[in-house]
Amino acid sequence: MYYLKTKEACLYLLVSLTFVLFFGTRLNEGTNVIAIGQTLSGNDTIFSKDGTFELGFFTPGKSRNYYIGIWYKDFANKTVVWVANRNHPISSPFDSELKLFPNGNLALLNESKIQIWSSNSTAKKENSSIAILLDNGNFVTRDNQDSSNIIWQSFDYPTDTWLPGGKIGYNKIKNEKIYLTSWRNEENPAPGLFSLEVETNGPSAILLYNMTKQYFSTGAWC
Ligand SMILES: *[C@@H]1O[C@H](CO)[C@@H](O)[C@H](O)[C@H]1NC(C)=O
Ligand SMILES: *[C@@H]1O[C@H](CO)[C@@H](O)[C@H](O)[C@H]1NC(C)=O
Ligand SMILES: *[C@@H]1O[C@H](CO)[C@@H](O)[C@H](O)[C@H]1NC(C)=O
Ligand SMILES: *[C@@H]1O[C@H](CO)[C@@H](O)[C@H](O)[C@H]1NC(C)=O
Ligand SMILES: *[C@@H]1O[C@H](CO)[C@@H](O)[C@H](O)[C@H]1NC(C)=O
Repeated sequence: MYYLKTKEACLYLLVSLTFVLFFGTRLNEGTNVIAIGQTLSGNDTIFSKDGTFELGFFTPGKSRNYYIGIWYKDFANKTVVWVANRNHPISSPFDSELKLFPNGNLALLNESKIQIWSSNSTAKKENSSIAILLDNGNFVTRDNQDSSNIIWQSFDYPTDTWLPGGKIGYNKIKNEKIYLTSWRNEENPAPGLFSLEVETNGPSAILLYNMTKQYFSTGAWC
């Protein structure tokens, strides 16, 4: 009797341990967060809490390349609003992973576990970050206790889509322009020929560029 119990306990422990080893770092189903140490891989996705946006690997059109992107969940044809690794596609999502590291850096590792895209962000304190897909489509890495302490956000790095609440103009902290750039074509989200900037140096105006050649301006509006 005693022997059987020990055996059962052993089996239970073994099963639990196996479960933790294999699934311990997987995402929870239907979640909107990636916590430290968790990975998003293959067909895993996270959703904004209100269900509007979804984030995961996608492949545009007939392309064989995969990208991490954000799209409207309920549109019949995937309408991608943001792409992380525009210039660095991967070919096998099940062998690649998007991961939040203890230092607050969000990185995409390819099939060889080499970092091919990263948010380049670092938290002040280790093990204190969380990555969240917000209801407005902004993907944010922030302090897990303090929602106002944002370390990195996709709204600072838009691709070709300006979502309500997103910003175009100038990131004063980083001294970087924030602008939209078209995809190269329907099957390649790499930066294409067209870009949209907001002139903030002096009177504001929306400028459209074909490569570096300006071809349209709203003129000053304020
Ligand atoms: C995700 O991938 C797994 C493993 O290949 C597969 O079993 C599962 O059906 C897939 N889920 C969806 C929603 O495609
Ligand atoms: C989705 O794309 C297919 C093929 O390009 C097209 O035939 C269809 O009309 C599109 N559906 C919607 C809802 O846009
Ligand atoms: C992963 O990325 C590295 C660096 O870009 C590259 O050398 C390597 O071939 C990639 N691995 C695969 C399997 O594509
Ligand atoms: C991270 O830094 C690398 C190297 O400086 C740069 O090429 C890359 O664009 C940066 N990534 C983001 C998301 O800013
Ligand atoms: C962060 O968490 C990891 C894994 O749990 C642990 O090994 C490490 O010591 C922690 N670092 C700090 C500074 O608490």
